Amino acid sequence: MSISFRKLHSLFAGEVSSVDLRNIRDRDTLERIRTGMDEYAVLVFREQSLSIQDQLGFAQRLDGKLHTKTGVSALMKNRLGDVPVGDISNVGPDGKILPRDDRKRMYSLANRLWHTDGSFQDPAGRYSMLYACVLPPVRSDTQFADMRAAYDALDDEMKATLERLTAHHSIAYSRQTLGFTFSEEEQDNLKGAVHPMIRTNPRTKRRSVYVASHANRVIEWPIAEGRLLIWDLMDRATQPHLVYSHEWRPGDLVIWDNLATMHRGTPFDDAKYHRELRRVTTLDVAYEFESMPVSELA
Ligand code: OGA
Ligand code: MN
Repeated sequence: MSISFRKLHSLFAGEVSSVDLRNIRDRDTLERIRTGMDEYAVLVFREQSLSIQDQLGFAQRLDGKLHTKTGVSALMKNRLGDVPVGDISNVGPDGKILPRDDRKRMYSLANRLWHTDGSFQDPAGRYSMLYACVLPPVRSDTQFADMRAAYDALDDEMKATLERLTAHHSIAYSRQTLGFTFSEEEQDNLKGAVHPMIRTNPRTKRRSVYVASHANRVIEWPIAEGRLLIWDLMDRATQPHLVYSHEWRPGDLVIWDNLATMHRGTPFDDAKYHRELRRVTTLDVAYEFESMPVSELA
């Protein structure tokens, strides 16, 4: 099937021509979407109609292995069941809007910090695929920052410095910056992960800066100096001209590359309006699509 891309921002983010992702199974089209991801880092598919299984199936065909626990589902029971699908919503098991002080709602607020999905785990999250089921009548955009552009804008000295550094990412840390506390048992389950501060796309060789709110410290530096560096990099990366703001329409499926972007939710009146999206995130592991049995693609 032939597909094409339309740029949504001068640097990155593309809208994909009309396709039904339930039917995308052939290697060439899947490869074309991967190439599109390499170029745009964020792709928007309009007017999809995906069940949980459809969304899981497409994610596996596109990028192989799935993250089972990221975000809120790493910390509490999933309303959607025992499936590797994140419940990005403001509703409880009864389908009603969560009260203001509900723990799940409070944790979800951390999505409003600039972040990368699953960076507090190893392997980290690679592609996230967020599907809009129910949207409020007001804007509730998700914003993206192009971390390849952020890398390109650094001077050579900073590029060389970052090349040698690694950072510890921890969801307990990013939640703590918002004032949340964790029991000792929870802390034990949330040890975090260490990743290089520069990531290189193995196919395009383009580099990106890999820090965000979960980045707690630079391993090779004193804590304060490392945090100042992380915050400075995030400030530079989120200048308005580097940010694409996605205005959701029902049926949108947005895919982003967590190794090449940061993202955040924006505030809306979540005590008043329902907002329900579902997210599947793939694992940052090399995957041999050529050797994948055709039966798995079908
Ligand atoms: C996510 C996320 C932001 C939003 O699903 O990973 O950060 O706008 N979402 O819901
Ligand atoms: Mn997220």
